[in-house]
Amino acid sequence: MQPDLLVLGIESSCDETAAAVVSGDGRILSNQVLSQIDEHRKYGGVVPEVAARAHLDHMDHIIGAAMVEAEIGFSDLSGVAATGGPGLIGGVMVGVMAGKAIAMTHDLPFIAVNHLEAHALTVRLTDDVAFPYLLLLVSGGHCQLLSVEGVGHFKRLGTTVDDALGEAFDKTAKMLGLGYPGGPAVEQAAKLGDPDRFTLASPMVGRPGCDFSFSGLKTSVRQAVEKLPPGPLEESDVNSLCTAFQRAAGRAVLDRCKRAIAMFREDHPEGNTLVVAGGVAANKFLCTQLESLATAHDMKLVAPPLNLCTDNGAMIAWAGIEHLKLGHTDPLDFAPRPRWPLDPDAAKAGAKA
Ligand code: KG4
Ligand code: ZN
Repeated sequence: MQPDLLVLGIESSCDETAAAVVSGDGRILSNQVLSQIDEHRKYGGVVPEVAARAHLDHMDHIIGAAMVEAEIGFSDLSGVAATGGPGLIGGVMVGVMAGKAIAMTHDLPFIAVNHLEAHALTVRLTDDVAFPYLLLLVSGGHCQLLSVEGVGHFKRLGTTVDDALGEAFDKTAKMLGLGYPGGPAVEQAAKLGDPDRFTLASPMVGRPGCDFSFSGLKTSVRQAVEKLPPGPLEESDVNSLCTAFQRAAGRAVLDRCKRAIAMFREDHPEGNTLVVAGGVAANKFLCTQLESLATAHDMKLVAPPLNLCTDNGAMIAWAGIEHLKLGHTDPLDFAPRPRWPLDPDAAKAGAKA
């Protein structure tokens, strides 16, 4: 831990404009997050052009607010980190340009952070977890199982062949008229549903490997809706469909994780940490099930606190610090990347990154 390092982290890859200052010894001096949810709600999802414009409108103010909250000036910084991808390219460009401009003006190192790596390393900021660990990364855009072997070193064990888990939550919510973002709404509704009213098959359960697939589950929800009497859906049916969806998704995730634990242990017999990160890690139902799975395998489940599971600048600053400690920096001609797989070898082998 290096208390002397102070890094500004900038995040703009999706629908949060965020900036934070974090120290080398893991103190979050500031963490400003501006969610664009209200701007995208009327479209039922994130619209890339709207997001890019909103990042442009708010970025300067959010960075300024993060510096004020941290009570430091730019000259106190040891470096500037910005999400360099993967993500919606218009937004990523806004954050990268802001980061480079500050780095150039104040003669600071610039670090282009992989957004997925930032989610992956957040537990080392919050819980000081040592490498290696098994990571379930579940967000709106990604759904992967990774062996995290070191900074910049990942082995992808599984990924989704179609939708990400958060995307499946969001699409199910949209079908059921629950609005956007869907994950928290589905989780709340699921608490009120009758678990015996609908049964949905869990995709991929029992299949070899640990890839995910959620588009079939989404179709099952639609087919169950189509079998209901015509007209507006009953609230009780919506709730029960959410219960069935969440249970089916949960069974699939547990099955895949169980297989991933076996694969992870082949390389790391002593490995005893399962980490869940990304926006869907906010789901209590899922985390409770993952906790039981981890315990049954003599593993500890670690999940960052809710505000650090969803997109934020602190995770970008921390990933920047991890790289800076190893002497990694990026040139100012770094080009933002819409795609940036954590394990390039696995990405080449097929499926989504
Ligand atoms: O990591 P994140 O903030 O953004 C991406 O990088 O995608 O994740 C957002 C995703 C959305 O799909 C949202 O519906 C989902 O996380 N999410 C949840 C919950 N809270 C957020 N999904 C299920 N249950 C929740 N409680
Ligand atoms: Zn994310």
